[in-house]
Amino acid sequence: MQDYREFLDEILVDEETLQRRIAELGIQISRDYQGKSLHLICILRGGVMFLTDLMRRISVPHTVDFMAVSSYGSARQSTGQVRITLDLKDEIHGLDVLLVEDIVDSGYTIASVLDLLRTRHPLSLRVCTLLDKPKRREVSVPLDYCGFVIPNKFVFGYGLDLDEYYRNLPFIATVNLKKYHPQA
Ligand code: IMP
Ligand code: MG
Repeated sequence: MQDYREFLDEILVDEETLQRRIAELGIQISRDYQGKSLHLICILRGGVMFLTDLMRRISVPHTVDFMAVSSYGSARQSTGQVRITLDLKDEIHGLDVLLVEDIVDSGYTIASVLDLLRTRHPLSLRVCTLLDKPKRREVSVPLDYCGFVIPNKFVFGYGLDLDEYYRNLPFIATVNLKKYHPQA
């Protein structure tokens, strides 16, 4: 496996900046849901790191559940069709649901997950994404909470993968695709 330093282009969001912003989001979410209890739904796998840091910053009582989706098309570009590969464990009827996602790119993933969840009649349904790449948006999606707006570049680290690896890095970095060799 190639050392990430060989193809890292730029650290876009460093660890301290990430954690500071996540703390702010936690405060904002806790304020908005004061007196309520919250049901966090994390979209696997990219959202896991963000979820675990974010929930430590949320002071209102909350539960968590997970779902996984895969988009048809290549690993780095979704096509608009999204398939549920792992469904929620719990019913969400009547719950205040907050979807926790790593990145919104074309918007197809979040849009289809929202469509699906709405059919299950949560009391409320909002989206919290760590990263937003608005330049690539093809379908409009409401982002209630957003960590960082980033340029149209492929990023990895902090949950986001490059061919499934490098999710463990504590920062968000851009890839120099010319220097990245998946088979190395
Ligand atoms: P969308 O359906 O195009 O909005 O794509 C969202 C999904 O694509 C995210 O949940 C990620 O899994 C993946 N994705 C989009 N951009 C990136 C990126 O820059 N790095 C890693 N994964 C990405
Ligand atoms: Mg994802």
